[in-house]
Amino acid sequence: MVIKVKNLVKEFDSLKAVDDISFEVKKGEIFGLLGPNGAGKTTTIRMLTGIFKPAQGNAYIGKYDIQKNPIEAKQLMGIVPEMANAYIDLSAFKNLLLMGELYGIEKEKRIRKAENLLKLFQLYEKRNQKVRTFSKGMKQRVILAMALMNDSKILFLDEPTSGLDVESARLIKNLIRKFNEKGVTILLTTHNIEEANQLCDRVAIMDHGKIIAIDRPAKLKHAIQGTSSIEVAFKEPVNKDLLKFKGVTEVKKIGDKFKLYTEKPEDIIPILVNHSQKTKNKIISLNTFGPSLEDVFVKLTKGRKK
Ligand SMILES: Nc1ncnc2c1ncn2[C@@H]1O[C@H](COP(=O)(O)OP(=O)(O)OP(=O)(O)O)[C@@H](O)[C@H]1O
Ligand SMILES: [Mg+2]
Repeated sequence: MVIKVKNLVKEFDSLKAVDDISFEVKKGEIFGLLGPNGAGKTTTIRMLTGIFKPAQGNAYIGKYDIQKNPIEAKQLMGIVPEMANAYIDLSAFKNLLLMGELYGIEKEKRIRKAENLLKLFQLYEKRNQKVRTFSKGMKQRVILAMALMNDSKILFLDEPTSGLDVESARLIKNLIRKFNEKGVTILLTTHNIEEANQLCDRVAIMDHGKIIAIDRPAKLKHAIQGTSSIEVAFKEPVNKDLLKFKGVTEVKKIGDKFKLYTEKPEDIIPILVNHSQKTKNKIISLNTFGPSLEDVFVKLTKGRKK
């Protein structure tokens, strides 16, 4: 066990931002805290990295209690905070060197390390340029590289891809996977369900300070089996209500497509084809899906008290 969280609570006045959560992260895992804005993800990370003192509970990083042995615990971690920033008036290279100096890495070694990271993060060409001139995606890469100067075995990433375009987010996700393959354990937060699905070995779904489910994405999806869906698009517009066939629990309009929720897609497909022939309205695409992590999320968080 690399991270162990037991009954953590954090209150701000009368608000329980984190309300008695417990979980463990195993060595080598990518573990995700998934939840909407205000769920308590950042507050959790801040307690685990020694910024906030919990009102109750304990957190262990490796064998160290973050409250009793903060220095030892912090030496094991690399952190990318929610509002992370590099020094914008320094170059990318200088930022990394400065980080290396803070960690007490000797000069030759920190230069070599910084150069390697800059290459890996596709920043080497621009290494001497001030971070001020960097795009958001490039800045985020500098910040991630800074967190890795210490050869940290445990990385805390608070919304590592938030606000990035598809390409920059993909690059960051690939780097996260790459470091994970090298043996780095990663705890990240996200409100992006698909990202959690793609990256995480296990996910804890957080809502209003509580963990309401915790498992592998595939298992979470399995748990709500029965909500398979068929996505269909017709050539001509269709009245949504006409698609609520027997055996279809819900119909949603999604862009130019309709999503039909059902327990038995195999029974509904022939009905759809029949409908298309009868109304002389061609089906231009049809896909079936198992339950998505989004379905799980909606199902678990729906109707919970605010
Ligand atoms: N320093 C603070 N003082 C008072 N309230 C706070 C403080 N930090 C967080 N909160 C409150 O605690 C709750 C959880 O906030 P937190 O930042 O942990 O959520 P989050 O899951 O990280 O959300 P987001 O996805 O928006 O980053 C929110 O209601 C927030 O307003
Ligand atoms: Mg946050």
